[in-house]
Amino acid sequence: MARGKDKLRRFAENLTFRCMVQPEFEEVFRTDFRLKGRWREDFFGNPNPVVLELGCGRGEYTVSLAERYPDKNFIGVDIKGARMWRGAKTATEQEMRNAGFLRTRIEFIDSCFAPGEVDEIWITFPDPQLRKGRVKKRLTAPEFLTRYARFLRPGGPIHLKSDCRHLHDYTRTVAEGNALPIEACNTDIYGTGFADDLLSIKTTYEKRFLAQGVPITYIRFSLDGHTEFAPVEFAPDELLQR
Ligand SMILES: C[S@@+](CC[C@H](N)C(=O)[O-])C[C@H]1O[C@@H](n2cnc3c(N)ncnc32)[C@H](O)[C@@H]1O
Repeated sequence: MARGKDKLRRFAENLTFRCMVQPEFEEVFRTDFRLKGRWREDFFGNPNPVVLELGCGRGEYTVSLAERYPDKNFIGVDIKGARMWRGAKTATEQEMRNAGFLRTRIEFIDSCFAPGEVDEIWITFPDPQLRKGRVKKRLTAPEFLTRYARFLRPGGPIHLKSDCRHLHDYTRTVAEGNALPIEACNTDIYGTGFADDLLSIKTTYEKRFLAQGVPITYIRFSLDGHTEFAPVEFAPDELLQR
C-alpha cells in the first residue's frame, strides 16, 4: 500500500482503538485534559501505578513493560499517530488492559496528568536536538523537567535511554547541576554487560543504532522534590556528531 494511504488507514484505525487517546489542541492548551487526575479510575479502571514512555514511537517499551508488569499501567506518549498505531494495534490485539497511548505534544504533558499521578517516566531515544538554539527542546532540558515535576510522584525515577552521547552527558550535567540524585549511569549498556532484562528491550530506533555499532547509553535520576531547574553550562551544540 502507498505510504500516504497506509498512514490514512492507520489514522482511521487509531480512532477505533480504546487504548488510544487523542486530545484536540483546545483540550490541552492552557487547560486541563478531562483525564487529568482520572487515568486510573476512568481509563484503566484500577488503582495501579502509572508509568509513561515519552516519545514512544511504536511503543516498544510501553507494550513490553505492560506485558512484564500486569500490576502497573503504561502510557506511551508521542505526536506521531502512524507510529503509535503499531503499539496500539498490538495492545488491542492482545487485549492488554494496562497499556494506553496518548497522542499529544509533550509540551502539553502537564495538562494531562495531576500532581503525583505518574510513578515513573521512560524517555526512549528522543531526538537529541543538537542544532544551535534547540537545547530547550530536549526532553531532559530544565523546561521539561519543570513540567514533569508537576505530576511525577516524589522520588519517581526518570529513565533516559539514548544513542547520543552528547544528550546523555548533557542530561547528567543537568542532573548534577541541579543536585538531582543519579541512580544509574552507563555509556555503553551492552558493551559493559550493564543491560538487564528491562534495559534489553529494544526499540525501533535502538535496533537501527545497534546495527551501526553505536553504543547505547542509559541514565536514571529523580527530581528529589525540586520544582524548578536551572539551565547548565554545557558544550556548544552546533555541528555536533552523535
Ligand atoms: C527518534 S524517535 C524514537 C521513537 C522510539 N522511542 C524509538 O526508540 O524507536 C523520537 C520520537 O519522539 C517523538 N517526539 C519528539 N518530540 C516530541 C514532542 N515534543 N512531543 C511528542 N512527541 C515527540 C517523535 O514523534 C518520535 O516518534
